[in-house]
Amino acid sequence: MKIGILSSGGDCPGINASIRGVGKTALSHYGMEILGIKSGFLGLLEKDYLPLDDLSLSGLLSLGGTILGTSREKPFKKILNGESEQKSQIILDHYRESGLDCLVCIGGNGTQKTAYKLSQLGLNVIGIPKTIDNDVWGTDMTFGFYTAVDIATEAIDRLHSTASSHKRVMVIELMGHKAGWITLYAGMAGGADIILLPELGYDINKVNQAIMDRTTKGKSYSIVAVGEGLEIDCKRIEKATGIETRKTTLGYVQRGGSPLAYDRILATQLGGHATELIAQGQFGRMVCLQNNQIRSIPLQETAGKLKTVPADHDLIAQGLRMGISFGIDYSIIG
Ligand code: F6P
Repeated sequence: MKIGILSSGGDCPGINASIRGVGKTALSHYGMEILGIKSGFLGLLEKDYLPLDDLSLSGLLSLGGTILGTSREKPFKKILNGESEQKSQIILDHYRESGLDCLVCIGGNGTQKTAYKLSQLGLNVIGIPKTIDNDVWGTDMTFGFYTAVDIATEAIDRLHSTASSHKRVMVIELMGHKAGWITLYAGMAGGADIILLPELGYDINKVNQAIMDRTTKGKSYSIVAVGEGLEIDCKRIEKATGIETRKTTLGYVQRGGSPLAYDRILATQLGGHATELIAQGQFGRMVCLQNNQIRSIPLQETAGKLKTVPADHDLIAQGLRMGISFGIDYSIIG
């Protein structure tokens, strides 16, 4: 069999480990052929390929980013009338022309949706979920997430120095436009005093109140972790609390560098399981982690959905029990 493999969407730590997991299992266990496709779906449109062998799959475990490159190309997105139809037809033609038996798509929500649409057109597709945002529906965890949380936690740790020395409010914006998983986990791990999640929104008066309550208790500084989907105005905090307020946006640093051991293991397991599915001829599925087991679900189940932080998440409840503010009226979350 000949497997095509691509990575699409934002890069994240662990993609190379999953390429290695798919590829080494395919080569050494099943004697399959493996063809890398460069820059996501763009590579299939432009026939930009990179054949992978045992040598090129070595040394990848600790490497950040993706050796295949990536893009946000969405072949089904309608730009001009008919253009997306042409693109999907080109992808079908190039898939067949390259003699592929299956296409492995490593990516987040958008990629899994495209993978599903391609499988509907008759391609044999397997999805592997990846993203630092941890917001792919149907898997308990995506690789890249814990590495990003670790980086964000270290950033919050370091902000404590300036916050306490200058007696300031330090706001840190973390990635995750619609899903606040990184903000919640890094906020809790880094000891943020106020955690604002895109899913819950916030009331600036509650944020200011929480800061002033800390001042009353003799705590001269506060750390606010905020999900990137939320706007926050430092001037409004300064005006209401009288405390100097500064904002740091951590940005792409969260996506960079070498994956933690956890993400390497998850990526390896998901990659290996993807190849197992291919060997069994089970297509149209996304490999996933559910209840600590590596499983798979139909791509149809995940396509178009987003896994956001539920308001009754245990870590939010624990934060509330410890006096952390989530910037909202708590009766909303019960
Ligand atoms: O990969 C997910 C993510 O990091 C989001 O948190 C963020 O909103 C988005 O990617 C931005 O990425 P880019 O600028 O590469 O599109």
